[in-house]
Amino acid sequence: MNTLQKSMSALLIAGCFLTLPVWAADKAAGEQKAAMCAGCHGAGGKSANAQFPNLAAQQPAYIVNQLKAFKSGSRTSSMMAGMAASLSDDDMANLAAYFADQPAAKAGGDAALAKVGKDKAAMCLGCHGEAGAGNGQFPRLAGQQPDYLVKQLTNFKDGSRKASHMQAIAATLSEDDMKALAAYFGSL
Ligand code: HEC
Ligand code: HEC
Repeated sequence: MNTLQKSMSALLIAGCFLTLPVWAADKAAGEQKAAMCAGCHGAGGKSANAQFPNLAAQQPAYIVNQLKAFKSGSRTSSMMAGMAASLSDDDMANLAAYFADQPAAKAGGDAALAKVGKDKAAMCLGCHGEAGAGNGQFPRLAGQQPDYLVKQLTNFKDGSRKASHMQAIAATLSEDDMKALAAYFGSL
């Protein structure tokens, strides 16, 4: 290495250390903020009520996307709009890092229905992952509250929740398909 290369790499290394604290999400700060979510989403993001989705082990990029969508109004929910309005970009990243790190919840689903759902789920796994664990912008479905999943699929189908791929897919599903798929993913 010549002197120029040495000082360049020193700068790069220093740059990494300087920017790291700005970019790394702060889980401890997220945990503190999460106190205001627990009343609905449960302690550690494990929901006890099908109206409220589990956030535990959800994909962090997906959580941030949804919080931004609630804040901008592109995803509508009277309960979440007010919540998201009070959150900064840093709060969202910190909350996402905290919830993503919590052990997954398992809502469970009707066993007979889940069997039917398993046979229909192949078309979902390419995006949502083999075990429904999600990936980046593709949400985790595994262990999610079945009634919540049915509500979201219904919202995609009637266009009240917007996401081009999911709207097209939900359009092909009957109410029975949705219930079976939701029972299957909830049981994972
Ligand atoms: C008053 C109850 C309530 C509180 C408090 C609340 N939420 Fe929610 N949240 C909801 C409801 C209801 C939904 C589902 C909305 C729907 O049906 O589309 C939701 C959905 C979400 C989603 C989307 C999940 C998914 O799988 O798409 C995220 C992310 C979320 N909330 C994060 C938070 C965070 C972070 C907090 C705390 C800062 C919080 N919520 C506080 C009621 C609440
Ligand atoms: C081409 C990729 C793709 C395929 C295939 C796909 N999804 Fe999705 N799905 C997405 C994306 C992206 C989102 C997040 C949309 C958003 O950001 O609002 C999503 C969101 C969802 C949600 C909302 C989850 C939540 O927590 O609110 C449900 C439920 C869902 N998908 C079920 C399914 C089912 C069931 C199938 C198979 C029948 C399926 N998806 C197939 C890409 C896909």
